[in-house]
Amino acid sequence: KKIAILGAPIDIGASQRGTLMGPAALRTAGLLTLLDGLGFEVNDYGDIAIGDVADLADPPPDTARHYREIQRWSRALSARSYELARSGAIPIYLGGDHTLSMGSVNGIARHWHESGRELFVLWLDAHADYNTPATTISGNMHGMSAAFLCGEPGLDGLLGGEPRAPIEPDQLELFGTRSIDKLEKDLLRERRISVADMRQIDEFGVGVLIRRVIDKVKARGGVLHVSFDVDFLDPSLAPGVGTTVPGGATYREAHLVMEMLHDSGLVRSVDIVELNPFLDERGRTARTAVELIGSLFGQQITDRPTPSNAIE
Ligand code: ARG
Ligand code: MN
Ligand code: MN
Ligand code: MN
Repeated sequence: KKIAILGAPIDIGASQRGTLMGPAALRTAGLLTLLDGLGFEVNDYGDIAIGDVADLADPPPDTARHYREIQRWSRALSARSYELARSGAIPIYLGGDHTLSMGSVNGIARHWHESGRELFVLWLDAHADYNTPATTISGNMHGMSAAFLCGEPGLDGLLGGEPRAPIEPDQLELFGTRSIDKLEKDLLRERRISVADMRQIDEFGVGVLIRRVIDKVKARGGVLHVSFDVDFLDPSLAPGVGTTVPGGATYREAHLVMEMLHDSGLVRSVDIVELNPFLDERGRTARTAVELIGSLFGQQITDRPTPSNAIE
């Protein structure tokens, strides 16, 4: 049972600076000790560096802010992520803002595509991140990452020569959503993206809705990537994010999601993004995020036998 940790201190994809401190805060909050204590062999590969990547010459879209820098991160991350996924370890990417996923998930998707298994992406997030350069209001690229991963047009040159491995819109599962822009909503509807929004969570509960995702992935013989944007959580328990939205997941809702995902045995890779330690209160948000990762990797309230389908 191997876990590979890789930090990506990116913050230019968001409007608020500070997520570049995320990887350090997650380590400080005890992420590695926790995973080690759960019996994993944990390798920390430090933070990825982008200094020596030469810039490409494709024309940057004028509604995608900091395109060139994010291109550097995405290319480096995708290549690295592909290697990590191929190694058989479970990669955990520490952000950094949500543009991280453009690289991390692309690399992982490339690996699973070659292995002939469908990759599903669970997007735990207040937002849909389904804007393109044509629909965005803010120009912030962290609001475009899910759309990019589904192959939406507008950022086609982002990865340069790095092979692009888009997922199908029916392999994306938005969960915890409560803030979507107007044109973004139209696009989600057109693509028939599955959205478990907070209204549905209130009505049916996270258990029923996450079970539906797990059953779908299992029925198709797929594997799961969890892209955990910390603003999925209610701001009262996760103040350390730049884009808080009221009415988010409660402490127990979030833990139940993670516990059920663990028991499913389907999770092969994880992003933890948007933690902004500059906005946090005495490390609370970082600690909460780390506890949730504990549940995702098998921390239990009472000792129950490890389900036979959990990751060996
Ligand atoms: N929809 C808004 C935008 O496009 C907010 C996106 C927030 N994304 C995030 N990863 N926190 O700017
Ligand atoms: Mn996000
Ligand atoms: Mn978000
Ligand atoms: Mn499909």
